[in-house]
Amino acid sequence: MRITNEQNDIQSILFSEEQIRSRVAELGAQLTAEYADKNPLVVCILKGASFFYTDLCRMMKCHLFMDFIAVSSYGAGAQSSGVVRIIKDLDTSITGRHVIIVEDIIDSGLTLKHLRELLSSRKPASIKTVCLLDKHERHDSHIAADLCGFRIPDEFVVGYGLDYAGYYRNLPYIGVLKHEVYE
Ligand code: PRP
Repeated sequence: MRITNEQNDIQSILFSEEQIRSRVAELGAQLTAEYADKNPLVVCILKGASFFYTDLCRMMKCHLFMDFIAVSSYGAGAQSSGVVRIIKDLDTSITGRHVIIVEDIIDSGLTLKHLRELLSSRKPASIKTVCLLDKHERHDSHIAADLCGFRIPDEFVVGYGLDYAGYYRNLPYIGVLKHEVYE
């Protein structure tokens, strides 16, 4: 068994369950006001955004349609290449729809940039990007999402959907992983 107590691997809690719940409620209220009469198509980028996405959708008090896309970044190096391969595409046509792309974290920003370009090419009525966490020091400001939950320092964060080697996604908070876990 790989891990017996995931909490032992956490150096510090960056955002508690309550802080996350409160911020997601604010984002949901903002999107409700903006999309009340637009019947938006809300897109989850699997897998990291899954918890944020479902909580955010529950906080949007308007008609909406849910769909999911699974992608994989690949390239020569360990870093995201920004070239995104679709593993599972949307089930729905987005042409003429108001689309909201929901992402868990922007690191280099290349995944979201590529997905935005890809989905824009399908001619939606509008497209907005929402991310929970933004490592703003790691990318140019023009790559930032339209709506962001929290700006964070360049630390290895896990929990609330974010993983290391597939683990820690189910932690209810967002924490900084101890260096010795991944070094
Ligand atoms: C993570 C995260 C973003 C992307 C951010 O996905 O969920 O999609 O990396 O990195 P970038 O801004 O440098 O492109 P990952 O490939 O780890 O897949 P996962 O969501 O299934 O964990």
